Amino acid sequence: MSLFMDVGKSLFFWVFLFSLFRFSFSFTPAENYLLSCGSTINASLLDRVFIGDSSKLASGFLSGDRSVSLTDQNPSPDSPTLYRTARVFTGESRYKFDIKRNGTHLVRFHFSPFSAQNYKLESGKFDVSVNGFLVLSGFSTNAVVIKEYVMNLDLGELNIVFCPVEESGFGFVNAIEVFSAPKDFIIDEGVLLVSAHGNEEYNNLSSQVLETVRRINVGGSKLTPVNDTLWRTWIPDDDFLVLKPAAKRAVSTQVPNYLSGGATREIAPDNVYMTAQQMNRDNMPVNSRFNITWQFPVGSKGARHLVRLHFCDIVSPAIGQLYFDVYINQYSAYRDLDLSSLTFHVLSAPVFIDFVADSDDSGFMGISVGPSSLSSPMKVNAILNGVEIMKMVNPQVSNAVSKKKNVWIVVGSVLGGFIVLCLAAAAAAVLLALRCKKEKRKPGPAESIGWTALRVYGGSSHSRTTEGTVHTSTGPNGYHSLRIPFTDIQSGTNNFDKALIIGMGGFGMVYKGVLRDNTKVAVKRGIPGSRQGLPEFQTEITVLSKIRHRHLVSLVGYCEEQSEMILVYEYMEKGPLKSHLYGSKYPPLSWKQRLEICIGAARGLHYLHTGSAQGIIHRDIKSTNILLDENYGAKVADFGLSRSGPRLDETHVSTGVKGSFGYLDPEYFRRQQLTDKSDVYSFAVVLLEVLCARPAVDPLLAREQVNLAEWAMQWQKKGMLEKIIDPHLVGQINPSSLKKFGETAEKCLADYGVDRPSMGDVLWNLEYTLQLQESGQQESHLDNDTNGTEHATPGITPSTSHRIGNLARSDSSDMTSSQVFSQLMTNEGR
Ligand SMILES: *[C@@H]1O[C@H](CO)[C@@H](O)[C@H](O)[C@H]1NC(C)=O
Ligand SMILES: *[C@@H]1O[C@H](CO)[C@@H](O)[C@H](O)[C@H]1NC(C)=O
Repeated sequence: MSLFMDVGKSLFFWVFLFSLFRFSFSFTPAENYLLSCGSTINASLLDRVFIGDSSKLASGFLSGDRSVSLTDQNPSPDSPTLYRTARVFTGESRYKFDIKRNGTHLVRFHFSPFSAQNYKLESGKFDVSVNGFLVLSGFSTNAVVIKEYVMNLDLGELNIVFCPVEESGFGFVNAIEVFSAPKDFIIDEGVLLVSAHGNEEYNNLSSQVLETVRRINVGGSKLTPVNDTLWRTWIPDDDFLVLKPAAKRAVSTQVPNYLSGGATREIAPDNVYMTAQQMNRDNMPVNSRFNITWQFPVGSKGARHLVRLHFCDIVSPAIGQLYFDVYINQYSAYRDLDLSSLTFHVLSAPVFIDFVADSDDSGFMGISVGPSSLSSPMKVNAILNGVEIMKMVNPQVSNAVSKKKNVWIVVGSVLGGFIVLCLAAAAAAVLLALRCKKEKRKPGPAESIGWTALRVYGGSSHSRTTEGTVHTSTGPNGYHSLRIPFTDIQSGTNNFDKALIIGMGGFGMVYKGVLRDNTKVAVKRGIPGSRQGLPEFQTEITVLSKIRHRHLVSLVGYCEEQSEMILVYEYMEKGPLKSHLYGSKYPPLSWKQRLEICIGAARGLHYLHTGSAQGIIHRDIKSTNILLDENYGAKVADFGLSRSGPRLDETHVSTGVKGSFGYLDPEYFRRQQLTDKSDVYSFAVVLLEVLCARPAVDPLLAREQVNLAEWAMQWQKKGMLEKIIDPHLVGQINPSSLKKFGETAEKCLADYGVDRPSMGDVLWNLEYTLQLQESGQQESHLDNDTNGTEHATPGITPSTSHRIGNLARSDSSDMTSSQVFSQLMTNEGR
């Protein structure tokens, strides 16, 4: 069973779907409570209806009986109906909401003071608690204020308690909103804590109660609830700019490309991403480098905040020119930010990045953007499109709330904190186990997507993805297009004969088959209820029909009939590389064979990265995704049908770590920055697997050996990599070849992507490694200093081979390639 294409997991191919699908819907919250307080009738605000909290419909929400309804008798003509009534609390009062959908919610309070009867609402002073979190303490206002909180709510009750303080004797509220946030509104991955001590990952953002403090449309105009998908207000940034002449507005007319970015229209509306501030070099001396800085008053000193920055490159004429640094309170928050790497190299694609930082001692949050050291002098620029600053509300109870409750809330939060700590401590240990487990996990019911999705986009879905590229030509299988009739596949696989199953995975079964023209194929057939859906299917077809290369497994065709989703690939006789390295009965491969396989795979990857206009990142390079044909020719496999490809409903491409444990680029893990250098990292792990004949992660080994990359690098740094190579290779590898190989892997495993070589460089280095091996064999034959089991090429004079040997032994990386190759050529010429 090992001769098979392992389709099982992960066919991660990040490609883009461009903006094929444009969303033009308004957001409908899954849970939506809107209350007009102190009113018996409903009030509308924009397209939303607020139910009167004294109406029959609203009974059950209000459980305090120490409140009165108040109506403004002399409202100003422009005041909305919603603000003409208020509920006044003369004692502790409570609103209760049934939470039937857990997850992130937005909670808003509207305060619009007026005077009626004996109440002058602006003199009210009160506390407000939400599920035990004191969100407003001693609050009072003489102007219209909307307070907004973002928090995760569990199933059950949401309790909002109003409590008058001191002698004011009352509190009030005009309206309350409680509604579910869009999916992934707050996510825990990819959040950076920025401080004097450098950056680290911040965990558990979603468990925080966040209070919106600032919401800024940088470079743009004021946006009111009517302009915003979530009825938010965004204000311009001008008043917060420290040096106005440093900034210049940028305005785009192009609708943001949400599909390629990490943000959605609910994260921020079009208008936020269509305007920005950029460096105003007109006002500055030529070639000067400077920051644009904003200082936002946040009202509390040294308090922890979420700072969400919105970016959309609407200023670059071409991709790959904009590199800039981001600072929060003068601490480096993000170095060399390359938006294109977060957006699949598409301009005008919105991205947001979450930071956690403390406000400074004067109660300000300073944000700067400025050119990075990577920007070329002529293209120096930096941008910012939007800012949201949200304060983390500390668990704290209202003094006014009854004692007994206090105790429980305190105990609850202390316990909660403790549990969080324990979880954090355990996380590292558990991570590994979890990851390994995850690999083997079968799709759970919650993940299942039925095939019904297949027709969602109607008949045009295919013309959209494959039109013009494949339909007009005769495919390699002799069919007029890549479409293969279902009946042909049926007969070619003996009606999906179980005996022909050669693999199994999240997508479904893989069968060995034969087409009408006797081509041997591997047939991947999706199963109903599989977690793999239409977009991945389309992605695979789109990518593979456009890209063909000797070292990439090619798509022979596909079938989309009768709710079937079937992909047909060329058959790879010898199966995955992994099974020829360890854990099977195959004879061990020679060093030369291994190098040739690595070179082939590197060529395929190099082509992926550079062969198409946009470049494609594989994202799941590992030894099971490199397949061998009957001649041990290597091809990179597994495209598009990934369980987490850029699905239409999954937009956080810039966040969320994907890939296989052990192969995962640590920088990608840390910074959520996806580049082709992540593939380079994973490829290096494959190189080490090839050399050491052991898995990337082996939890059964001693702790320092578990992770192959770490372990091998320890030996590499000691210059003793030969100690851990596959025993079958001992005595076979020329030391200079091994040295070069080790150096190549080491460079590819550099912490930062920028320090890693490109796939092109890797390819060159591997070819060189092979050259060194071949010339070294000649040397070993003549010098007889290794137990040469291979035959040397006859007819070289000792003097030449000695020269080559010495050259190869010296630090080859210090030498220009032409020097070495001219030596090799001299050799061959004789
Ligand atoms: C916001 O919406 C109003 C009303 O539809 C419209 O007049 C205004 O131009 C919009 N503002 C922006 C910046 O789009
Ligand atoms: C931008 O601001 C940061 C933090 O204050 C500073 O370290 C950096 O040198 C500034 N860059 C430029 C080009 O002025």
